[in-house]
Amino acid sequence: MSNVSLLELLEAEAGAYVSGEDISRRLNVSRTAVWKQVRKLEAQGYTIDAVPRLGYRLSGKPSRITALELLPKLNTRAFGRQLRIMDVVPSTQDELRKLAEEGAPEGTLVIAEQQTSGRGRMGRAWVSPAGKGVWMSLLLRPLVPLPLTPQLTLLAAVALSRAIARVVPSLSIGIKWPNDLLVDGKKISGILLESAAEDERLRYVVVGLGVSVNLEPDDYPEELLERAVSLKMANGGKAIDRAELIAVILEEFERLYDLFAERGFAPIRALWEAHSVTLNHTVRLTTPTGTLIGVPRSLDEMGGLRVELPDGSFQTVYSADIGD
Ligand code: BTN
Repeated sequence: MSNVSLLELLEAEAGAYVSGEDISRRLNVSRTAVWKQVRKLEAQGYTIDAVPRLGYRLSGKPSRITALELLPKLNTRAFGRQLRIMDVVPSTQDELRKLAEEGAPEGTLVIAEQQTSGRGRMGRAWVSPAGKGVWMSLLLRPLVPLPLTPQLTLLAAVALSRAIARVVPSLSIGIKWPNDLLVDGKKISGILLESAAEDERLRYVVVGLGVSVNLEPDDYPEELLERAVSLKMANGGKAIDRAELIAVILEEFERLYDLFAERGFAPIRALWEAHSVTLNHTVRLTTPTGTLIGVPRSLDEMGGLRVELPDGSFQTVYSADIGD
């Protein structure tokens, strides 16, 4: 018998008691073996109530994300199958980059409980307190030409929004170009793609995914509270299981990544446009070459944003920060 099967059995009972006899029959092991496995799970931070005549029930999980909990939930071929879960790191991006340089395979994942120098787009810092978020980096080795890398940014946003919608169905999530996810206009997650190229050839991409899962208002710097919110805060204060969320993110991501490999960007583009809150509203875009005001109308086939300017002409933007 493995730890995983006892854990799965107790989890499936959703906090109800299961008799030792029932467990030993269902797992086909002795009562003593059941007891030993209970002790092992307890040593890993699970709380298991044992009551004579009632049996065992799972009443608490470790607050940390563990491979023991995550792996049985994974429904992927490659994503997350090579897994490193770390406690405190400056940034999961750097940890994964080291592994990538050592030849780690596609789908390798680094998760951290806390980041001390989490980074976001445009050189911003990313708030990553201990035990409250999903702070992780996923390794891709895509066979796409370098200029098409931005398409993966958009793909990541669609995958993340579908995953969050599955885990917290009460939320209405919109994608702000290129890849911020918003609930009621406030940011709940961020995506940062960093790539390594050589001679115009894409070697690998490190996809950084940050989801503010169970953060409380106190976890944010004051000035961010106007613009950011956690899933828990947006979900009426109800905490979300981080391991489950990670498993669903990886599943959605791998599914879209496979679709992209098979059919190219067109289906991803259609999904992105359907989830977007950026299209057809007047916005101010701060690009590396200046500011422009216009109405984004669609994505082009590369992944750029086609913006209609006040004179009716169109300009395509590939890198920008969007304000209202
Ligand atoms: C953004 O600015 O919206 C992107 C934020 C990306 C944050 C994630 S958290 C995991 C990974 N490690 C980092 O340092 N950043 C990304």
